[in-house]
Amino acid sequence: MPRPAALACISCGADYPLTHYADDCPACRGAGVPSNLTVRYAETLGAALRRDALPAGPNSLWRFADFLPLPASDAITLGEGATPLHDVAALGLGPVWVKDESRNPTWSFKDRLACLAVSMARALGATVIASSSSGNAGAATAAYAARAGLPCVVFTTRGAVGPMVTQMRAYGAMVFECADRADRWTLVSAGVKRFGWYPTTTYFGPAVGSNPYGIEGYKTIAYEIAEQCGWAVPDWCVLPVCYGDALYGMWKGFEELRALGWIDRVPRLAAAEVSGSLAAALATGAAMPPVSKRNEPTIAGSIGADQGTVQGLDALRRTDGAAVTIDNAEMEHWQARLARATGLYAEPASVAPFAAIARLRAAGTIAAGARVVVLLTAGGLKDPATTDRTLGAAPGLADGDFDAACRALKTHYGFDPHA
Ligand SMILES: Cc1ncc(COP(=O)(O)O)c(C=O)c1O
Ligand SMILES: [Zn+2]
Repeated sequence: MPRPAALACISCGADYPLTHYADDCPACRGAGVPSNLTVRYAETLGAALRRDALPAGPNSLWRFADFLPLPASDAITLGEGATPLHDVAALGLGPVWVKDESRNPTWSFKDRLACLAVSMARALGATVIASSSSGNAGAATAAYAARAGLPCVVFTTRGAVGPMVTQMRAYGAMVFECADRADRWTLVSAGVKRFGWYPTTTYFGPAVGSNPYGIEGYKTIAYEIAEQCGWAVPDWCVLPVCYGDALYGMWKGFEELRALGWIDRVPRLAAAEVSGSLAAALATGAAMPPVSKRNEPTIAGSIGADQGTVQGLDALRRTDGAAVTIDNAEMEHWQARLARATGLYAEPASVAPFAAIARLRAAGTIAAGARVVVLLTAGGLKDPATTDRTLGAAPGLADGDFDAACRALKTHYGFDPHA
């Protein structure tokens, strides 16, 4: 089992102890480029394995325990990972596949992060889990804390999307709805400083990203995609991005496989964002993604922050990647089109990559025949109210009058039952 050696700064490489998980790199913060830490191992991960003789089970991300910071026997697990990869050529965006992360235990990709973060929390002897989240991260953290039997405090925002707050509370987390978003970070920070609470999410600004052990969970998305593609990795992976945790984790996972010689290259990565922060940094060459305000309130609250992170930018730069800024109309369009053409109903944030692919294909950045994998981060039932607003009400039928139903099929749905 690989033993983590240190937490290393992703920018300057400085090593910090394994207990430094609640902080970023003080040196880089002092230099004005706040950077997250990542787990550094004493040995090459997976060196004793062969890609064609990987363990058949368990049916979860713990199949890849040889690449993770603790053994499967120490896992707090709900069967996360091992999600399907669907061909969605029917969308008309060329050769595209969807990695369906809505199939995770709390119905989002955040389960991979929460699983690793909370498993390490227990291994390190943490007694209280804390999260600042407006949605999926808090829901996942609450579930894994419950599984671990650890108390969990979540500071969320008043007006956060209903089903996700319901999830947090259902799992027994102690949830607070903060009137001011910014207070969430101040409050987690106080819990960490005063009582040694264990944070799973980012909680100070400028944000650097989430708990480094949690990000190790996202590496397994890259391993699964590589294996599902028969080790012939796609040309591009496109993700909805906020703090770039999954972006950085996927880059790290692919890079580990490349170092082992299991894949010949790391796919190029593209960020679908709503703020434009990463796109601005790529355009100007800035070391730090700038604050970038939107003109409209976003329907993709899950990726609604105004500023990207150094780790996200780093993953894009290392892979000669791209960032595209997506608006509400595009997400409404692609949410409906994806569900109708493929049977996959995704959260608004999770369809932003399809809009990004359309634009990147049109610009020639993604070549017409290039193979693309989209990370579908969460399912549509995380936020049905947004879909309902787009769809409007279904026609009512006062009684069981089939002729009236036939008329409504034609007038409301444009479907002629006689044709
Ligand atoms: C559904 C969904 N997609 C994407 C993201 C962006 O995640 P990341 O911080 O890994 O960029 C989030 C959460 O922040 C999310 O909830
Ligand atoms: Zn540093």
